[in-house]
Amino acid sequence: MSKTVLITGASSGIGEATAKYFLQKGWNVSATMRSLNKADNWAEEKNVIYPHLDLTKPETIASATRETLEHFGQIDVLVNNAGYALMGPLEGVTPEQLEHQFQTNFFGLVSTIQNVIPVLRRQGKGTIINVSSIGGRLAFPLTSSYHATKWAVDGLSESLSYELRPFGIQVKIIEPGGIKTNFFNRGTTWATHPDYAQMVNHLQQFTKKINDYLAEPEGVAKTIYRAATDQSGRLRYSPYGEAYFFLHAILPDKLWRSLVGKIMLGKSY
Ligand SMILES: NC(=O)c1ccc[n+]([C@@H]2O[C@H](COP(=O)([O-])OP(=O)(O)OC[C@H]3O[C@@H](n4cnc5c(N)ncnc54)[C@H](OP(=O)(O)O)[C@@H]3O)[C@@H](O)[C@H]2O)c1
Repeated sequence: MSKTVLITGASSGIGEATAKYFLQKGWNVSATMRSLNKADNWAEEKNVIYPHLDLTKPETIASATRETLEHFGQIDVLVNNAGYALMGPLEGVTPEQLEHQFQTNFFGLVSTIQNVIPVLRRQGKGTIINVSSIGGRLAFPLTSSYHATKWAVDGLSESLSYELRPFGIQVKIIEPGGIKTNFFNRGTTWATHPDYAQMVNHLQQFTKKINDYLAEPEGVAKTIYRAATDQSGRLRYSPYGEAYFFLHAILPDKLWRSLVGKIMLGKSY
């Protein structure tokens, strides 16, 4: 019998590439989406459903889980992929922006996991894959809110891996480097404050410049598939992110931060 994966944020970028890769591999795919009109281009695919799931609406998380079970009878792998970045100076972040960022990237993810754990425990097996970021263990300028959510996801995932292992459930963390998706344009919300305008401008120019050189999401999809199937007990996978972790580990902290400041903000620290 085919295995089933439930993916959040399957309408674009890494989530869409992952849904298509699992389909190619013969899996049943529950490609959940916040906006259902984005499913049109896959309409002809078999073994795929498109439940509505908006991470800021807990009732849609429960209904998407139910719909997946009713249709496919099981969930073998959960991929918590959906997310976006709130960028800009912390001084300009509104409570609403911060709440929405945490509701999407952290509380919605927690709720999805809590909905799926009982299913996986009943089955006696399963894998939970949380898409964090290199920014779940490193931090870059003017991105403090986003990093706070991803560091939270990273810590939660590592801790959770211990408590779920005795039930046959694996937890995996995916920490991609920069990937060419909607993330840096449509996916990003900016907080503003006039006193940080020059820094923000420099960072925006930088992200525009690097966008063409970023890796394609299909590579991340393959890593997610490997994490779902390799049975290795490995916790972290860093597609296109290893070089950042390597440099961060070998460079003195002051030099690392000075380079990051120079490259991203045009200032040395
Ligand atoms: N791209 C990168 O460089 C990069 C690097 C490291 C980590 N990541 C992580 O990778 C994940 C996927 O991002 P991506 O790069 O593929 O960006 P993307 O193309 O912008 O995709 C983000 C997905 O999340 C969905 N989403 C946003 N808010 C949602 C909500 N409230 N409820 C349900 N779905 C929601 C979007 O749906 P809509 O289509 O409805 O907006 C979209 O499907 C994110 O968690 C991101 O933090 C990305």
